Amino acid sequence: MEIIKVQDQVAGGKKAFELIKEGMENDSAKVLGLATGSSPITMYQEMVASDLDFSDMTAINLDEYVGLKGTDEQSYRFFMNDKLFNHKPFKASYVPDGMATDEKAECDRYDEIIANNPIDIQILGIGTNGHIGFNEPGTPFDSQTRRVGLVESTIESNKRFFDKKEDVPTEAYSMGIGSIMKAKKIILVAYGESKIDALKGMVEGPISTDCPASILQKHDNVVLIADEAALAGL
Ligand code: GLP
Repeated sequence: MEIIKVQDQVAGGKKAFELIKEGMENDSAKVLGLATGSSPITMYQEMVASDLDFSDMTAINLDEYVGLKGTDEQSYRFFMNDKLFNHKPFKASYVPDGMATDEKAECDRYDEIIANNPIDIQILGIGTNGHIGFNEPGTPFDSQTRRVGLVESTIESNKRFFDKKEDVPTEAYSMGIGSIMKAKKIILVAYGESKIDALKGMVEGPISTDCPASILQKHDNVVLIADEAALAGL
């Protein structure tokens, strides 16, 4: 695992963007796996400010809250449109459908999209408990797309994006860890002291479903971009 220490989130966004740009220039990046949360925002800002054309690229997002429409401002579809796709159109962009009522059909549909568009570069953030996507502790490492319950600490961390805690959905559709691990390259971005334990578990901890991100130790092409505060435990 390569660890790149950056000054702050702005520098981290630039670094992550450079890696994507490099992949696009040498033709190794046609499909991007994308993430939400605050950590990748500076990378999206760099993408939007660039003169790069993404119109022959495909984007596949990690997850979506159950019960939110794509037009809902708290949905991850809205977030992605707002931060990236409205400014830089992609050939196709996929986010799970939070309103899907047939759970199995939605999960199968999403797994088929991933199978038909193997991910070249997967961008990840990390939850304070080490979750990736919405794959909470205890998630099997070979998991595929499924509907998941969010644990209390995740609801607590994510309530900042909602008016009140009761508005935070308690479930989500999430790409599985098995699919994340199939990406050819993984770039994980993390900033701030709230991520200290998660990064310690990811980089140095035993590989255990207690810290979902610890499985990344088994992937041969992972770049961790983080600031000093987040890396303080290593
Ligand atoms: C959510 C997302 C994750 C993200 C995490 C951390 O739970 N499902 O993909 O990594 O939040 O978010 P932040 O970057 O805002 O700390």
